[in-house]
Amino acid sequence: LTGVEMFAGLEPEARQRLIAAAVPRTYRRGQLLFVENDPGESLIVLKRGSVAVFRTAPTGERAVLSVMRPPDVFGEVSLLDGSARSASAEALEDCSALALSRGAFMELVHTHPRILDAVMRSLGGLIRRLTDQNADYVFLDLPGRVAKTLVRLAGESQAPMITIELNQSQLAEMAGGSRQSVNQAIGSFASRGWLRTEGRRIVVTDLASLRRRAGMAD
Ligand code: CMP
Repeated sequence: LTGVEMFAGLEPEARQRLIAAAVPRTYRRGQLLFVENDPGESLIVLKRGSVAVFRTAPTGERAVLSVMRPPDVFGEVSLLDGSARSASAEALEDCSALALSRGAFMELVHTHPRILDAVMRSLGGLIRRLTDQNADYVFLDLPGRVAKTLVRLAGESQAPMITIELNQSQLAEMAGGSRQSVNQAIGSFASRGWLRTEGRRIVVTDLASLRRRAGMAD
């Protein structure tokens, strides 16, 4: 649990209790961890691999809300309000994780209320992300959202060339557009020399231009 922000301030004894209560889980690539509207039974601490959190439209179309990577913690929303899962989660690669049951988590909250500081910070972060996503849907056109998704995936890397392992339908799910319109945006970025595609990979060659197209500060 080292490196997990939510549990960083816990005293060693509380951390031991947490480790004892956590159940190790493994998921194969493509496996669903849980599905939207399932009862929310546990908090997931991701140790290895990556997980897409997504919603599904009645047409079956997916919108990826976030990609979780270690040491991300998720599944806290239903745990805190006692209702159903707000989204589904699928392993993008083989994963290992720790699952903490609602009961164990609530007991920890009661015996170590300081953990609530970190829970509130994490919820604040989620609300901030949702606000950003909302603003992007209002203020950015689709190519702008594609550019922003690429910048986000590239992270804060200072490397002149960034390779993103992602196919275009995954990118479409993240940017909130059809595959066809995302392909068009990628094609137009490629023709301007901002990136090139190599099969499943997108190699970003001009991050600064993508940032500008996404309306982000230099
Ligand atoms: P929960 O509702 O238990 O299950 C789905 C989880 O996905 C949710 O808790 C959050 O941890 C996470 N989640 C839901 N919506 C978003 C979002 N828009 N961005 C990032 N994470 C989310």
